[in-house]
Amino acid sequence: MGWKKKHLLGIKDLTRDEIETVLNQAKVFKEVSQRAVKKTPALRGKTVVNLFFESSTRTRISFELAAKRLSADVINVASSSSSLTKGESLIDTLKNIEALSCDIAIVRHQVAGTPHSLAEHTRASVVNAGDGSNEHPTQALLDMFTVKEKIGTLKDLTVTIIGDILHSRVARSNMWGFTRSGSQVILCAPPTLIPRGIEEIEHVEVSYDLPSSLKRADVVIMLRLQRERQTSHFFPTLREYTRYFSLTEAAAENLKKNTVVMHPGPVNWDVEISSALKERLSPAILDQVTNGLAVRMAVLYLLSLGKEEKS
Ligand code: NCD
Repeated sequence: MGWKKKHLLGIKDLTRDEIETVLNQAKVFKEVSQRAVKKTPALRGKTVVNLFFESSTRTRISFELAAKRLSADVINVASSSSSLTKGESLIDTLKNIEALSCDIAIVRHQVAGTPHSLAEHTRASVVNAGDGSNEHPTQALLDMFTVKEKIGTLKDLTVTIIGDILHSRVARSNMWGFTRSGSQVILCAPPTLIPRGIEEIEHVEVSYDLPSSLKRADVVIMLRLQRERQTSHFFPTLREYTRYFSLTEAAAENLKKNTVVMHPGPVNWDVEISSALKERLSPAILDQVTNGLAVRMAVLYLLSLGKEEKS
């Protein structure tokens, strides 16, 4: 088995083999989720803590359910209800949680690098559930799982990621994952929403032209405009943005017949994607949610195997 890591902090740190190991394990757990009895005892006696310092519904619920399906005990700590709002430091929170012998800490934080620092201060395994604009590894793993399920491979594909690349941890994690798996990634957005120099990464290219980027795509990942992270005006008006970068019915004419279109959610209909495409695109987006559960079960299970290597 190709898994020795104690933490899952980013896709950038994973080898192609490790990605494959998670996806294969997720396949097993997807089957479990289709049974009448959806639980397995794999994490019985283990404690998982969900530490969410940034608002989230679907990711938190997905991790919570994944841990419960594996029979772990789960504690949820949200920043608004914890002593963090009373000035307790992150490290103090974690030390307290450790005093309760938690085995796995799932961390979402608005500051990039937070899960990495926590990983250095705890005996527990740490899973990054989204750190600022840096990474969101389980989202990329579930996106890759969905693509593999629908197309059969992750190799030699053209994956077009469209939208607010600059602020998107989903874009970064997917960019690392798909390039490492042997695919080409096109990042398509207005120049102000593309990180400078990103096209220097091998197998990554930048495009400011939606129709041609859609034409080449085997996979399209639409991103939400991260307005909560945008500190200045990155485009003149929303209307102007949607005119050039929204997936409208007209833009969708450029797609190949079998292109897989995904979105990490929550979708702002009529901003990233026209609501006229809702019926056509929603099923795949909901498949992503279903697959997210299986992938998170796989991650928690692999980390619980108790390898001691610190990485
Ligand atoms: C993503 C996130 O939080 O980074 N959403 C999610 O995990 N459900 C993408 C987004 O917020 O746009």
